[in-house]
Amino acid sequence: MIRLENVHKAFANGHAALAGVDLEVARGEVFGIIGRSGAGKSTLVRLLNGLERPSTGSVAIDGTDVASLSGEGLRTLRRRVGMIFQNFGLLSSRTVFDNVALPLRIAGADKARIAERVPELLARVGLADHGAKYPAQLSGGQKQRVGIARALATGPDILLCDEATSALDPETTRSILALIADLNRELGLTIVLITHEMEVVRQVCDRVAVLHAGRVVETGSVAQVFLDPKAAETRAMLDEGGDHGPIAFDGPIVRLTLRGDAILQPVLTRIARETGTDFAILDGRIGRFKDASFGQLTLGLAGGDTVAALAALRQHGEVSE
Ligand SMILES: Nc1ncnc2c1ncn2[C@@H]1O[C@H](COP(=O)(O)OP(=O)(O)OP(=O)(O)O)[C@@H](O)[C@H]1O
Ligand SMILES: [Mg+2]
Repeated sequence: MIRLENVHKAFANGHAALAGVDLEVARGEVFGIIGRSGAGKSTLVRLLNGLERPSTGSVAIDGTDVASLSGEGLRTLRRRVGMIFQNFGLLSSRTVFDNVALPLRIAGADKARIAERVPELLARVGLADHGAKYPAQLSGGQKQRVGIARALATGPDILLCDEATSALDPETTRSILALIADLNRELGLTIVLITHEMEVVRQVCDRVAVLHAGRVVETGSVAQVFLDPKAAETRAMLDEGGDHGPIAFDGPIVRLTLRGDAILQPVLTRIARETGTDFAILDGRIGRFKDASFGQLTLGLAGGDTVAALAALRQHGEVSE
């Protein structure tokens, strides 16, 4: 649905924000773009709705080159592509109702249509009773819900989210991500989600691209990128928040990756009993992706029949030494 081919973007000051980006987003997926500050994420997302044009290369939506659009073509594109922002971008002097109505007014909707559509949109984001309030009377999470209702007003089929949860606490972030996942499922919206947090990617995305210094350094399913990162930049981002110094252990060290129901099995104790090998858990994470569970443990093997223990571990998950 969205295809970027060899996209370069340099600004007037000569700074190359994007340096050869290739990317494909399929219809109906939640696609994450993760990268550090300055990686080029916002620049990339602004190319998708025609706010910026690539210096070279092409950005196509359903096969139409975005850069070739102007006038009515560009207006149609902007109705198809909704966007939400980190700082919500609401008009503080307008009520919630009027903020959501704005794109409808711009699109020429009449009063009756607006009176019908805005309450539907507010109900969809869980703000049915808040239409008469002003943004200052809302929490951050509620403001982002208004932002989402406004983005949905023109019936888009693509939703761009630029750090949409970065200003929110973890619990509110989860509720907004759950709403975004619902919209993806129920309306079939294709979602491009920009973030600097791997946690956000883990919770809602199907696939992810890692952007670093204007280039995609890695792309794949969330499970692939999260459990078996290839690029050094991806590993560095995953290690953030963890305390991963070098591990000193006197014996073989392996990484065990379990997927799906395998995490529910009492694998380690059983193998320890059968092989006489004891396990030290040196590092680990257990959790959920959008629609699958995972566990990843770094294990130190001590004593017993370690060859048999390794073979037994391999029957339950992926093992790397
Ligand atoms: N209009 C502009 N003129 C000149 N340079 C710009 C412009 N917009 C962005 N840049 C530069 O391009 C690079 C990428 O910026 P961009 O905003 O895309 O990064 P980002 O990944 O969204 O960062 P953040 O996570 O901080 O939002 C930065 O070095 C930035 O300074
Ligand atoms: Mg940005």
